[in-house]
Amino acid sequence: MKKHKAWLAGLAAITLVIGASVLRSGNTESHVDRQLIPTAAREEIKSVEAEINNIEEKSLNRAQSATLDGFQQNILLGKLIFYDQKLAVNRNQSCAFCHMPETGFTGPVSALNQTIVAYPGSVRTRFGKRTPQSHTYASFAPVLHYNPEQGDFVGGQFWDMRATGLRLDSALAEQAQDPPLDPVEIGLIDPACMIYRMSERPYRAMAERLWGAQAFDIRWPANANQVCGRPGPPLQTDPLPVHLNAVDRGIAQSTFDRIGEAIAAFEISPEVNPFSSKYDYVMAGKAEFTPEEKMGYELFRSKATHCNECHRDGGPGEEPLFTDFTASNLGVPPNPALPFYKENAPDQFGYTANPEGLKYLDPGVGGFLASKQNPNREWAAMAGSFLGKYKTPTLRNVDKRPRPDFVKAYMHNGYLKSLKEVVHFYNTRDALPRCKPGDPGEKVTCWPASENPATMNQKQLGDLKLSGQQEDFLVAFLKTLTDGYSPPAK
Ligand code: HEC
Ligand code: HEC
Repeated sequence: MKKHKAWLAGLAAITLVIGASVLRSGNTESHVDRQLIPTAAREEIKSVEAEINNIEEKSLNRAQSATLDGFQQNILLGKLIFYDQKLAVNRNQSCAFCHMPETGFTGPVSALNQTIVAYPGSVRTRFGKRTPQSHTYASFAPVLHYNPEQGDFVGGQFWDMRATGLRLDSALAEQAQDPPLDPVEIGLIDPACMIYRMSERPYRAMAERLWGAQAFDIRWPANANQVCGRPGPPLQTDPLPVHLNAVDRGIAQSTFDRIGEAIAAFEISPEVNPFSSKYDYVMAGKAEFTPEEKMGYELFRSKATHCNECHRDGGPGEEPLFTDFTASNLGVPPNPALPFYKENAPDQFGYTANPEGLKYLDPGVGGFLASKQNPNREWAAMAGSFLGKYKTPTLRNVDKRPRPDFVKAYMHNGYLKSLKEVVHFYNTRDALPRCKPGDPGEKVTCWPASENPATMNQKQLGDLKLSGQQEDFLVAFLKTLTDGYSPPAK
């Protein structure tokens, strides 16, 4: 306790010093910002933002084309929204900021993946608690349901499945409604702000053609612009701070649903899901695995590794998506580098992302089932047994990166940084001794304890008894799942 107090006093002193220098520089935002985003990430972030603008401009030019059919227009509208940075509360962030094509639509900043894993929100001093998921092939996830025979939840979006899809009959469309209102992401204070902001964008006419003239026909209160410039979350006493009459509120909600569906149309499109990896060409008989890749594929499908039991490579009537959309707790250790653990005090807008601070345990699917967001009371009773479980991700594009030395972060908290580490973890989680985060040998000769040991999967991983070479074969196979492969010329 005493130690704790001394620590707190130290922290207070540091805060005072920072506070004083902030007052001098007169710029709070950039100062706190500099504390959490590593310097090396700053340049990368700038070039990602420039690339997003570039893609947006090209897409706007394409929107002028008279030859697009309805199918193409719908996808293009979704793409325009996906890349539009002006919709965010500070007009500085789009979905693509955390999901870029060059990494298979996951985090595009190597220096963040390597360090704090989480991406800053539109309010650049706020960070979420998990790794951005790749959303390639996410469109194949069904609406969330419980399969009593398997005893598994299946489908939904997010690591914790919380975007169920039950309302719009599309998990993906409902997922797309979450980031705009997430205080640590795009940060809008009211869904109506998304419509207000979009009504000022150059692709408004295209949206009206597709959705109808009512889409933006809302009588906005005089302070709409001002309210929408304030980061969420809203006060509990005023949950929808853009004050609209009931009909206009209905229009806003319906247009917000159309936005979710348009983004989903883009995410379902062949541009995002091309099925063009070396693996696909090999299966079609148009390319051949190297001997290492072939050994890796055989191991992947074998009882020795169990990989294929969750990351399914297809079956009768089933596409090879390398996930079965169920959840499991692999026993991944917590990642102390996540800035979320430090977000335990109100920021300059009075928002505290993580009141529990260092004590926070990520509850995974169990957290969603226990929350108000869960629409089904029967499911709530199962929360305990799903604590610490996460949705099985697709392995397609798991190695897709813009350059060989680009670091990707794996698992829900980005604790693992290479495919070799991932495979070594499956192989040796239980065979090697426990150690503390930061101990010498961590991730090579010892592993820290699981975040949620009670529900940990003991059956399919932990001590696979693979040799180092067999681990490498598995990695070689995983690398064949990257889209954009050019088959050898015949
Ligand atoms: C600040 C970074 C950030 C932004 C901006 C962002 N995302 Fe994400 N995305 C994440 C993170 C982190 C997760 C995982 C969150 C979780 O599971 O709690 C995620 C998960 C997803 C998933 C789930 C994939 C799956 O397999 O379950 C999809 C789809 C997705 N995002 C699409 C979007 C769209 C569409 C937008 C814009 C409307 C967007 N994201 C904006 C970081 C971001
Ligand atoms: C019991 C089901 C199951 C089995 C068996 C399984 N996985 Fe996984 N895999 C998962 C889940 C669930 C996650 C995400 C876990 C988390 O984030 O905590 C995951 C994550 C991964 C990731 C990280 C992907 C990303 O985008 O972060 C890779 C790579 C991977 N698995 C490869 C494999 C390989 C190779 C095998 C066999 C040695 C295997 N898995 C066996 C369920 C499984």
